[in-house]
Order: sequence, then C-alpha cells, then structure tokens
Amino acid sequence: MSTLMMRLSEIQPSQLYISEVKLKKVRTLLEDVDPRSLDPIPVKKIGDTVFFTDGHTRAYALMEQGVDSVHVFWDEDDLDWLQYLVCVSWCEDAGIREIAHLRGRVVDHSTYRRLWHKRCDAMQKETREGHYENVYTRQVEDPVEKSRITERILRALPDWFGIEEAIHEYVREVAEKDFFTINVGDRAVGFVSIHHHNAFTSEIYCMGIYQEVHRRGFGQRLLQEVVSRLEADGKKFLTVKTLGDSFPDPAYARTKQFYQSMGFYPLEESLAIWGAETPCLVMLKPL
Ligand SMILES: CC(C)(COP(=O)(O)OP(=O)(O)OC[C@H]1O[C@@H](n2cnc3c(N)ncnc32)[C@H](O)[C@@H]1OP(=O)(O)O)[C@@H](O)C(=O)NCCC(=O)NCCS
Repeated sequence: MSTLMMRLSEIQPSQLYISEVKLKKVRTLLEDVDPRSLDPIPVKKIGDTVFFTDGHTRAYALMEQGVDSVHVFWDEDDLDWLQYLVCVSWCEDAGIREIAHLRGRVVDHSTYRRLWHKRCDAMQKETREGHYENVYTRQVEDPVEKSRITERILRALPDWFGIEEAIHEYVREVAEKDFFTINVGDRAVGFVSIHHHNAFTSEIYCMGIYQEVHRRGFGQRLLQEVVSRLEADGKKFLTVKTLGDSFPDPAYARTKQFYQSMGFYPLEESLAIWGAETPCLVMLKPL
C-alpha cells in the first residue's frame, strides 16, 4: 500500500462526533508508541475535497499531540459515495472542515451511538430506498460560481472531457448561460448548462456529474428540472450535441444511453460541426 503525508488541516472529516472511549484507547496507545508508527488513515477524494473515510479517532488523538501531518492512503474500498457525501455535508453544515473542529464533540459512547450511529443508520436506510437526504437541484446565477463548478467537475471526468482547450471554452462559456446544479448539501456534484437558440429550441450546452455518483438518478433529476422550466416557457425542443457513433467510444456510448432513456432521438451525425476528426451527433427531445 502506498502512503503519503497530508496536513490534517487539509482533510475534511466525515464524522460529527468522536467517541470518548475509543479516544482513550488511542491516547493510551500513543503513550507507548511513536505517533508515526500508527496505521495510515484512509482517505478518498471527490473534486478537490479530500475526506477521511475512517480513522477520525486516530487523527484527533494525533492532532491533540500537536501532530500537523499524518500518513494517509487512498481508500480503494467500494464504499457508497453518496452516503459519505451526505456525512461530509453534515460536517460542513456544522462548520467542521478539519479534525480540529471536532473539539467539543468528544462524547461518551452511548451518546455517540445515539447521536451518530442512529443518524447514519436512518440515512443509510433512506439512501437504499432511493430517498436522498440533502440532495436538491439549484439554479446558479453567479457567473464565477458557474465557471468554478464546471471546471471542478469537468476535470474529474477525463474520459469525457480530456481536451484542455475544450475545458477552457466550456468554463468560459457557461458563465453566460442558464446553469443548474444538483447538490449534496452545499456541494454541487453535477451541473447542466443550457443555451437558448430561439423561442422554440434550447440546447444542453454542457452537462456532467461526478463519476462516483453516476446512476443515482441525478442526471435525470437535473433534466427534469430543466425540462419543466422550458415547458413552462413554451419551448418545443431540447437538443444536445454528443460524440457520433462513427467514433466508437465506451464512455460516450453510456452518455447516449442516458440521453436515449431521457427521450432524446438521434437527429443527424455531422462532420461540419466539430471537424472531420470528431463526428458530432445531434439529438433532439420534443417537449
Ligand atoms: C450522462 C450523465 C449526465 C448521466 O447522469 P446520471 O446521473 O449518471 O444518470 P441517471 O442515473 O440519472 O440515469 C437515468 C437513466 O439513464 C440511463 N442510463 C444512464 N447511464 C447509463 C449507462 N451507463 N448505461 C445504460 N443506461 C444508462 C438509465 O436508463 C438510467 O436509469 P436507471 O439507472 O434507472 O436504469 C452522467 O453519466 C455524466 O456526467 N457522464 C459524463 C459526462 C457526459 O457524458 N456529459 C454529457 C456530454 S454530451
């Protein structure tokens, strides 16, 4: 397992409390061993946020000892990203951005079980049933925020958005277009940007959702939001441009499955739009 050193202040907790009894055990352990000999702590990353998936008690005990940086490793476990993102959003709501912010949240074990385990159990049950706490769509008006969200998400989707100039163009152009996000708490985990061609037709200019939360219905929720607004405005068609079938690509094959399942039909493939190297498929959804 390869490890790296990371500053505690740069790692987002995903837990709201520390159990006193667990903390006492780690404190006792640290009386006899060198802090550097503790097992590395697992972390994951989404966008530019690195968060603990476990090991909060160890991190807290090390912080108490004045340790500034800890050994971490990238957690490869196939965990439920959405559940962790909800936990991270609870922490962010409570102003907990680093392990030091858990000071004052060390509680006895029965309180820990009551406040933390029960809340997590309820949230896990809800997510399994498809009710996602803290997940909502939002229209973003601020051009700077639109560009920032776009850049963060597109850079996390290299299988779809690998061309640097294209990323720059999207980041620049979304600033002036209608823009909606799907959020888990304060964090945008997906966005769609809409260009209006005329009184009848609008286009999905760009859309992306963090890969870690694909197939959770987020793309569908974003499109439902957009479609209901366009229909209220009397629009008749929604179009999208995507990679044509004559350029076989497994990632874009999934994208087209998504659009087809959302009611888009292939209209025509053209080499005139993005150039001869990049066939462009225009798809259309009647509203
Ligand atoms: C395309 C994208 C926006 C879809 O978002 P999503 O949240 O993963 O999609 P949803 O979970 O809402 O999917 C809704 C339905 O679309 C279809 N679908 C979505 N992804 C699919 C896939 N990989 N394979 C087959 N069908 C798929 C399914 O019918 C799905 O319903 P189901 O899960 O109940 O079967 C997202 O995958 C993405 O960001 N892709 C990378 C960037 C991209 O392609 N952007 C568009 C560029 S033109």
